[in-house]
Amino acid sequence: MLEPFDAVDVIRAKRDGGAVPEAELRWFVDAYTRGYVSDPQMASFAMAVFLNGMAREEIRILTDAMIASGERMSFGALSKVTVDKHSTGGVGDKITLPLAPLVASFGVAVPQLSGRGLGHTGGTLDKLESIPGWRAALTNEELFAQLEEVGAVICAAGSGLAPADKKLYALRDVTGTVNSIPLIASSIMSKKIAEGTDSLVLDVKFGSGAFMQDYALARELAETMVALGVDSGVRTTALLTDMNTPLGRAIGNANEVRESVEVLAGGGPADVRELTVTLAREMLTLAGQPDADVDAALDDGRAMDTWERMIRAQGGDPAAALPTARETHTIVAPTTGVLTRLDALAVGVAAWRLGAGRARADDAVVFAAGIDLHAKPGDLVVAGRPLMTLSADDAGRFARAIEALEGAWSIDSDADPKNFAQAPLVRDRITA
Ligand code: URA
Repeated sequence: MLEPFDAVDVIRAKRDGGAVPEAELRWFVDAYTRGYVSDPQMASFAMAVFLNGMAREEIRILTDAMIASGERMSFGALSKVTVDKHSTGGVGDKITLPLAPLVASFGVAVPQLSGRGLGHTGGTLDKLESIPGWRAALTNEELFAQLEEVGAVICAAGSGLAPADKKLYALRDVTGTVNSIPLIASSIMSKKIAEGTDSLVLDVKFGSGAFMQDYALARELAETMVALGVDSGVRTTALLTDMNTPLGRAIGNANEVRESVEVLAGGGPADVRELTVTLAREMLTLAGQPDADVDAALDDGRAMDTWERMIRAQGGDPAAALPTARETHTIVAPTTGVLTRLDALAVGVAAWRLGAGRARADDAVVFAAGIDLHAKPGDLVVAGRPLMTLSADDAGRFARAIEALEGAWSIDSDADPKNFAQAPLVRDRITA
């Protein structure tokens, strides 16, 4: 096939800070998917985007080209409206687990096509795979049948959605080009738009455990993604939420499932419940149910009932015992006072070093590995009493996890817990 453009021209245009003309950008993504544009050429382009950015219109075209690289699903044949949620990822972020069945308990279809974790943020599928028998891979027919019957599905995204992104994301991971607003926004939104949901709520994190640590950059990412969604006909809103400290008290896989089940039983940590309820309200508003009593569905067992049906439909036993670790190590508070800071990134890296996460895409995770926090910012801690418990299958992993936690917390001996000002979990809401 005679190629209509030159890859080097596209790279040069971006390198010199200009915008790439539409036809060339579309061709470049298509040629990369076909293997004509090489990995070094795409890596060079990604670095040029990382350094020079992209105009909104270019981001829209890039996203559209990545959608066009694969299949486009449609949930139009379902008898229910669909609404999806995507989080940019954080430490202890297990919200999808209670959220999907909670929203589905209102008769809405929630297709959560999810991924596995890489680096210090956990993957939703890794967490659910700690449930004996549960399987992540569904055919499209199984996915549709479960959406119709149960309403909630959390499963692996098929390889047919935005294959250009799959290649590009793996390349960015090893070329230092992940943290770029145009590249993150087009990567996430190409998959979500190709998936074919009617509505989408984005949970965009800022703070130490987030991709975008800086609030202003996280906000720009949220605005960019909302605009991409709306331009493609997907009703999209975003919340900007604080990821300076881990969400909840459990960080890992099996222990995050345990905590999610507590939330589904009407209990659980206040921050996990708050974010679950807030996101559920956003999703149900987009689905046409702004007055849904979300709290009641958590407290009266309706969400739990949907959870159990969702897990069973995918071969899992919701009543089965979850894996527990062979070894534990408890870290105690060095002094008495108010815990004023607990750093999300350090806790995430420590849990990862314990085996809860993977360093390479084909590594296995240790389901029982992780961290249970006995105190959160604002709590009074007492010298010599447990601050957190580390769990692993191999005691040899503790030393490096403890190293990651050095300097991860602050205790103020003079503070009064009554006067501790908790930063709001949900900082802002972005609409088109
Ligand atoms: N998640 C994605 O799918 N893509 C990114 O670029 C970052 C997070």
